Amino acid sequence: MCFRREAVGPRTGLPAIPSSPCSLRTVRRTIPAAVEAGVTVGRRALSRIRDRRHGGGSTSSAAYCYAVWMRHLVALSEAGLLARVPTSVAELGPGDSIGVGLAGILSGVRSYVAVDAAVFVRGDPLEPLDELARMIRDRTPIPDVLEMPIGSPPLRSREFPLALIDPEASSPEAVAAIRERPDRFVRYVAPWTMSEIIPPDSVDLLISQAVMEHVSDVEAAYTAMAKWLRKGGIASHQVDFRSHGTALTWNGHWRYSRSVWRVANLRKSGINRLPLSAHLRALEAAGLEVVGHVDQIDTEGIDDGAVHDDWRHLSSADLRTASAWINARRT
Ligand SMILES: C[S@@+](CC[C@H](N)C(=O)[O-])C[C@H]1O[C@@H](n2cnc3c(N)ncnc32)[C@H](O)[C@@H]1O
Repeated sequence: MCFRREAVGPRTGLPAIPSSPCSLRTVRRTIPAAVEAGVTVGRRALSRIRDRRHGGGSTSSAAYCYAVWMRHLVALSEAGLLARVPTSVAELGPGDSIGVGLAGILSGVRSYVAVDAAVFVRGDPLEPLDELARMIRDRTPIPDVLEMPIGSPPLRSREFPLALIDPEASSPEAVAAIRERPDRFVRYVAPWTMSEIIPPDSVDLLISQAVMEHVSDVEAAYTAMAKWLRKGGIASHQVDFRSHGTALTWNGHWRYSRSVWRVANLRKSGINRLPLSAHLRALEAAGLEVVGHVDQIDTEGIDDGAVHDDWRHLSSADLRTASAWINARRT
């Protein structure tokens, strides 16, 4: 099978290379005592932390990929940003499968490029194809949070989006064509280091799910993505600002000074600790107009007084924003 995996070197430090898509392997057993009141994290808590995957799920599950793809598509349509399935889609950080892109192709997308910091797709990349095709042919409603624990992007309707989709794209003939020549539809580039891996002005829709909180240089990543999008093209990013197990509270990672974060190796948790406002600024600086963002607010966790001096500039709104679906347009 000629699924194309491309490795693009040499590394320039652009993408961070995590050891696994959502690795928390290196989270220290002891959360710095001075910061988190001397609490030691026991084995059970540690494995709970490891098991907690914030915003991302198992992309090797067809149902998860279906939910992610449909949620981005329908949310953009509900926001008035899309009327039909786009022709060309790129995904940043697909993780362990290209299922989100396959769901797109089975909905009518003609070309999908997946770009990751490291190669995480193992085994048969087309494994979820048949199940995804069945879900689309059966007009499966978009799973709710109980069925699939991703509630974001939030939707008004979970009905199958018949009007957006090309019904021919999931026919048995279409599935056979994808199986025969997947390289006609799919590119997978990992690791990526240069924005040249995707031609400029070539992408209609760029999506990411639970990725931008892991990117080490968000300015460079948003700038590359802005280049890839054609004028009027749309970016749809689901970003999770939670502590990813590095603290006892969902927003406790902002109690750590920069040096504790570095010395205790907590940054190896793979998150950049950037709040919503920093992402919005980086998007605008990259030449993307932020059209809207739907924020999930969480008033539990630490309050303003507990934030470390290094994070004093953090607004109350940022401190309470647990995740956001951000949509932006290339102007
Ligand atoms: C939490 S996983 C999410 C995977 C998948 N999107 C999901 O919904 O489960 C984070 C992903 O972001 C990727 N990532 C981190 N930094 C990146 C970068 N600079 N460029 C592309 N992908 C990146 C990781 O390699 C990983 O695949």
